[in-house]
Formats: sequence, structure tokens, C-alpha cells
Amino acid sequence: MATSDAVLQVLSGAGPRSFSSDLCFSNLDLAFRSKHIKYVRKRASRHMKMFKCSSVLQDCIGKQWFKRSGDGDLYLSGNATIKRLQLLRCKCQQAERVSGVTTEGGNGTWFVDSAKTLNLNGAVNSPGVLELGETQQLTSETEVLTSNGSVNKEEESLTTNGAVGTGRDAPRKASVDPIEEEAWELLRDSVVYYCGSPIGTIAANDPTSSSVLNYDQVFIRDFIPSGIAFLLKGEYDIVRNFLLHTLQLQSWEKTMDCHSPGQGLMPASFKVRTFPLDGDDSATEEVLDPDFGEAAIGRVAPVDSGLWWIILLRAYGKCSGDLSVQERIDVQTGIKMILRLCLADGFDMFPTLLVTDGSCMIDRRMGIHGHPLEIQALFYSALLGAREMLTPEDGSADLLRALNNRLVALSFHIREYYWIDLRKLNEIYRYKTEEYSYDAVNKFNIYPDQVSTSLVEWMPNQGGYLIGNLQPAHMDFRFFSLGNMWSIVSGLATRDQSNAILDLIEAKWSDLVADMPLKICHPALEGQEWQIITGSDPKNTPWSYHNGGSWPTLLWQLTVACIKMNRPEIAARAIEIAEKRLSRDKWPEYYDTKKARFIGKQARLFQTWSIAGYLVAKLLLADPSAARMLVTDEDPELVNAFSCMISSNPRRKRGQNNSKKPFII
Ligand code: GLC
Repeated sequence: MATSDAVLQVLSGAGPRSFSSDLCFSNLDLAFRSKHIKYVRKRASRHMKMFKCSSVLQDCIGKQWFKRSGDGDLYLSGNATIKRLQLLRCKCQQAERVSGVTTEGGNGTWFVDSAKTLNLNGAVNSPGVLELGETQQLTSETEVLTSNGSVNKEEESLTTNGAVGTGRDAPRKASVDPIEEEAWELLRDSVVYYCGSPIGTIAANDPTSSSVLNYDQVFIRDFIPSGIAFLLKGEYDIVRNFLLHTLQLQSWEKTMDCHSPGQGLMPASFKVRTFPLDGDDSATEEVLDPDFGEAAIGRVAPVDSGLWWIILLRAYGKCSGDLSVQERIDVQTGIKMILRLCLADGFDMFPTLLVTDGSCMIDRRMGIHGHPLEIQALFYSALLGAREMLTPEDGSADLLRALNNRLVALSFHIREYYWIDLRKLNEIYRYKTEEYSYDAVNKFNIYPDQVSTSLVEWMPNQGGYLIGNLQPAHMDFRFFSLGNMWSIVSGLATRDQSNAILDLIEAKWSDLVADMPLKICHPALEGQEWQIITGSDPKNTPWSYHNGGSWPTLLWQLTVACIKMNRPEIAARAIEIAEKRLSRDKWPEYYDTKKARFIGKQARLFQTWSIAGYLVAKLLLADPSAARMLVTDEDPELVNAFSCMISSNPRRKRGQNNSKKPFII
């Protein structure tokens, strides 16, 4: 089969599901009179979907702030500069919950309108479906107690609804490690409540820190290990609440310098603020206040948030067996909004996602703008997860086609062009440059001098890794741990590559793990490079923080990757090292120096994702089968398309016959 045929076959299949026609919106008029009103509608509709617990809110929407014009459009009455804060509120003292809004008449009508604004081709909910109800604690029946009280592993396989075998009531080891016990206590102390329900965990709970900055907020990326830890414990409420409330915060409003971030962007973090209730001295109300980067240091864009959100949503469904969350209309809409934002056409020529510097865990200037590996691995993982979770619907066929197209192209691009080992380095070292042709070997015009002597010396005979970034005439040869780990977990790296990455970690143990796992990247930028690339950032000095610092939270991603490759002993070794210091050092955010000997210069103590990362690593090692909620195996159709591309030789001549390829590789 020709490459393009193979690819098109995969693409036209448009994913594993077929889609039925859109019942509600396909024929609706999508035109709106004013952009301003559009914003109002968007926020109103998203708000209504989630915050029906408050009659205050209904008053705001139904009576005080929004009025309906004669032809049904909403407009703001009174205060035209309503802030987000005023909208995302919950009157906490009110226990009673307001029932769901129907789509017939009254406020229900404007919900249909706002869905039109979003042009998401979603179906309108039936009453009550959108309510944020109490979650039942779902106990998994996958773990079967044998007569001696141990877990019967054979029975631990996926249940019919896909639930991974964990649960609060499931039997666990009788003796609890004191460090684990302490970690659980600290993790529970970090829980943030909204209207009485747990919705996330604070980034750090450091009583010794003089300046809190935004560490008192719930960060989306930081909550992922917390969420996984709670899932593994069978405590599903907090994760469900987190998923639904952050969804509600998804971008639809002007945020910075009169500029709106792309619709679908998830915030970097949010905070629960408490205010006295207007006109009632004895009562307060709570408000969710998101930060899309408009207040963040450096105004960095949280590109990874939405990707992590999809990953956690999938894990929630797999672990709890509760698929009702991912099937909700508003959740399906949220997934599609994230996808549309990521898959939107731009000027870029590559299938990788183009982002600005600091748009992920490394949220500072570190020279990772362009196509950083971490974002690509999360992107790939989110695309796979979304494809799995999207429910059949005709209106999404184009989106699914684009998604499949991207999956094939992205995996090919990363596996082929990001991969380096000794052999590949030697190839680059001998590259010819300035090749103008379709079949250039050195496609990105990489100058061989970029292969430094220290890199050649560092590369082990056995092993390899995916480089940090690829741009025209630029390969960022730094090893970034999270990107490499998540490429293994998501299957973005091939099996051979995945094993080779773990080989490299073993071979370079004293650099990457040393006295505290895991180095965020290696090597550090030093001297002039540090000056130019970081702008002489005093927080990111060599071997500190993002610039070669060591982050205990990365333990959990390492553990999932090792379990997937059936090499858990590597993770176990790393955990053993971490255990010697983490509790004693008060769970720091990061460590400094080449061998991670110091607690980081400005590291917070009691950093929640250090605590949760450790717990997840421990829990998964104790029950490796639970890692399935995070791992994605290779899709046979993708493998097929990919191998056809490889076997047809990426360096082939681009003759007339294949000039109709859907994308350039
Ligand atoms: C730092 C980290 C970022 C993290 C945040 C909160 O900014 O770089 O990844 O999300 O702290 O812990």
C-alpha cells in the first residue's frame, strides 16, 4: 500500500467510532449581532452548566445582570463591566441545590443560543444532566479478596466498563509506611474546598515561606498527581469536582490587554476567593477565580493545562468506571474546544504544536519556545484520549479526521526527527548543509557543529532519547525528563525507543537521578548560553530550578513509564533514593546542584506535587496494573500507517506520483 493511501485510509476512517447526526444545532442560525453579547452568552452558558447550586447565580443571570431583548438576545443590564469574579460564585450557606435548567423557554432558551455561539454542534442536555450533583463513591469490583486477604491479580483485569482495579474499599497492605502516612496527611491538608466540596489541592502549603505568590492556588498541572493519588485511593469525588469546575473555567472571556486567549484554553491555576455576600453581613459567598497566565509571572500561556485535563478525565473514567462524566454534553464540548484550539491551522509547517516559551511545567524563559517535546507528548496523549472518549456524532467527523491525521503525522515526525542515539548523532555530525530539494537528508539544515563534544561523550553506547525541540537549523539536544517519560507512557515513542530511553536513564543514573530523582533537564545552560537563553534569570541559574534542577514530582511519570515497559525496578531504585530525603527535607519543590545535593534555593517546602508524585509512584509500584488508566498502547491502525510511511522511506524522492500527499513529512 502506498504511504499516502495508508494514511488516507486511517484518516478517512475518522477514528474508532461512527457518528450520528446532530439533533439539535445543525440547522440553527449561527449569526450574532455583537461580539460583546457573544462573550456574555458564552460565559453565561458555561456558568449555568455548572453552578446550579446557587440561586444567587440564577438571580444574576435571570434578573439582575442579564436581560433579554425582544428577539431573545441577551444583553447586560446595569453594570456592563461585570467581572469574572462576579459570575463564578456560589452562595455557600445555601444547602439546597437548584434544579437543572430545561431547554424550553426561560433561561433554557438562552442556553441553546449560547451553544450556537460556540458552534460546537453539541446536543442540548436533558434537564438535570448538567447538574454538578454529588458523586457516588464508586467502588470497584475488580479486586477480589482471596482467602488469605491478598488481591487476586488475575481478577484485577479491566471490568466490562473499563474500570481499573482500585477502590477505597479494596484491600490494601495492612502496614502503612510512615512516610506514606505522612504524605497522605499532608496531601489531605492541601485539599481546597468550594461550596463545601473538595475541588483541588493547593500548590504548596509552606508555613515558612514569606511570599506566597500563587502557590496558594490550585494549578491544573500540579493537581494531576494529586488526582491520580485520590483515584488510586478510590476517592473519586475530588477528581470529578476538579474536572467539572475547571471545565467551567475554560476560556471564553477577554483576559489580557483586551486580547482573548483561544477559546478552549484551560487556566494555569485558579483560586477560591471568599467575599461577604451583598446585603447580608452574616453570609459569604465563594468565587472561583482562574488565571490564564494574565497574572502569572512572565504572562506565560498554560498550553499544557487542557492536555492534562483530558488525560485526567480519561484516567478518571478508567479508574472509577464512571463514564457518565466524559459522556456529559458539557464535557464533550470541553474536549472539542481543546481539540479545536490545538488543531487550528496556523502558519506552522510541522505537525508538532507550536507554542511560546514557558508554556508547560517549565513556565519561565528557558528557550523552549517552538515545538518542545513535553507539549508534543502531552498533545499526543490528549489526542488519543479524546479520540477514545468522544461520543458518536456526525458533526464531529471533520474534527476526528483532523485528529487522526495529526496523530499519524505527529508520531512520525517525533519518532523520526527528534530521536537521537550514538548512530544518529554520528549521522548528524556528517550532515551536508544547505540542501535545497524535496528529498534533502538534512531537512532542517542542522549545522553539524551543534553536536558538541560533551554531547558525544555523554551519549551512552546503548540508549538514546528524544531531543527537547526541533526548529529550522536548530536541534535542542537537552534531555527533558517529562517529555521523554510521557512519550513512553503515551506511546509517542516506539517500543524500541522507549526501552532505549530507560537504558539511557540507567546509564546516566548519576546525572539524571543522582541524589534526588529526577533532573528536569540535562545539561544545564551555563555561561553565555544561560545569559542569552534565560536572560540571565537569577532563579534559573545553572543546576537550579528549571535549569537542571531535580524535581521529586517527576517520580510518578518515571514510575508509569517504567511500569509500562515492564521495568519497574528502575522506578523502585529511584523511589528508594527519594525516600531517604523527601520527608526529612519537608517535601521540597525542587533540588539544586549537579547531583541534587541541596534543597533548591527558592524551593517551597511541602510542595503538594512532590508529595503526591511520591505517593502515586509508591501506589503504582504496589499495584502496577493500575497504571493502565494513564498508559496508552499503540493503536494498530496508527502503527500500520506509520510503518507504511517508514517503509516507503522518508528520504524518498518526491516524484509527481505522491505530490498529492495530505501533509509534508
Ligand atoms: C512553578 C513551576 C510550575 C508549577 C508551579 C506551581 O511555577 O514551574 O510548573 O506548576 O510552580 O507549583
